[in-house]
Amino acid sequence: MPIDHYAVFGHPIKHSKSPRIHSLFAEQTGQNLQYNAQDVPAEQFAAAVAAFFADGGKGLNCTIPLKELAWAYAEVKTERAQLSKAVNTLALQADGSVLGDNTDGIGLVTDLVHNHGIALTARRVLVLGAGGASRGIIAPLLEQSVHSITIANRTVDKSMQLAAEFAHKGAVTGCGFSELAGQTFDLIINATASSLTAELPPLPAGLLAAQGSCYDLAYGNDKTVFVRWGEDQHAHKSVDGLGMLVEQAAVAFALWRGVHPDTQAVITLLNAERVG
Ligand code: ATR
Repeated sequence: MPIDHYAVFGHPIKHSKSPRIHSLFAEQTGQNLQYNAQDVPAEQFAAAVAAFFADGGKGLNCTIPLKELAWAYAEVKTERAQLSKAVNTLALQADGSVLGDNTDGIGLVTDLVHNHGIALTARRVLVLGAGGASRGIIAPLLEQSVHSITIANRTVDKSMQLAAEFAHKGAVTGCGFSELAGQTFDLIINATASSLTAELPPLPAGLLAAQGSCYDLAYGNDKTVFVRWGEDQHAHKSVDGLGMLVEQAAVAFALWRGVHPDTQAVITLLNAERVG
């Protein structure tokens, strides 16, 4: 039987862990597939996707800076993709159309709740940043019956606008960092791009409630500056987004192959590799 082809498109893409994760999933579930990383700049995105599917490709992951373009490309979208206006997974369907899904939000929720034991129900959540990464996680968090979500951003207009967009789904407000002083939160999620430059947003002291936790959507071989900040605030848990990366990949894999891999085994392996 010919091997099925999948890939992740991004720019840059060199350090992506997705090929490794999907190869481990394939091995574990006995699926015969190949998964590559391809550097695709935004201006070449539509042509590269069309060529990939024309050549017999079955499914794609899309990462920074291509998720909004993937959303525009997908002919059919899941409800969660529709809401987030970003797509990280494309799947060729039986009728030849391309389906777009966004598995980032469910990946985050699964990692928080199941892998780290961080409860969401009735919790006050602070999301730092109002870009594409934040947009994808607001609705999935609201669906977990959180008490409220506050979105804080350097550019205040963007957090206000994002909050307004999701206001019909639950208690969500937008503000600037300076307005956070005096408030406390049970969970603080870093969705800014600041980890990439090792710069922390200006966070007032005392933001984290007793027993509160911190989660960085970014990840790296070393602890991110935000994970270290959480530790300094005596967070119950202060963790990065490696588990979310594996969980979002597992949901994409299940969409393509109809089988959900064991994520725990892969997370354990990747954690061991980066510590070593
Ligand atoms: P992504 O799709 O990864 O979310 P993005 O849409 O470019 O990327 O959004 C980046 C987010 O990180 C924004 O919220 C940005 O704040 P602005 O909207 O004010 O630009 C935030 N960000 C980037 N660098 C930051 C820094 N050094 N401090 C605080 N926020 C930062």
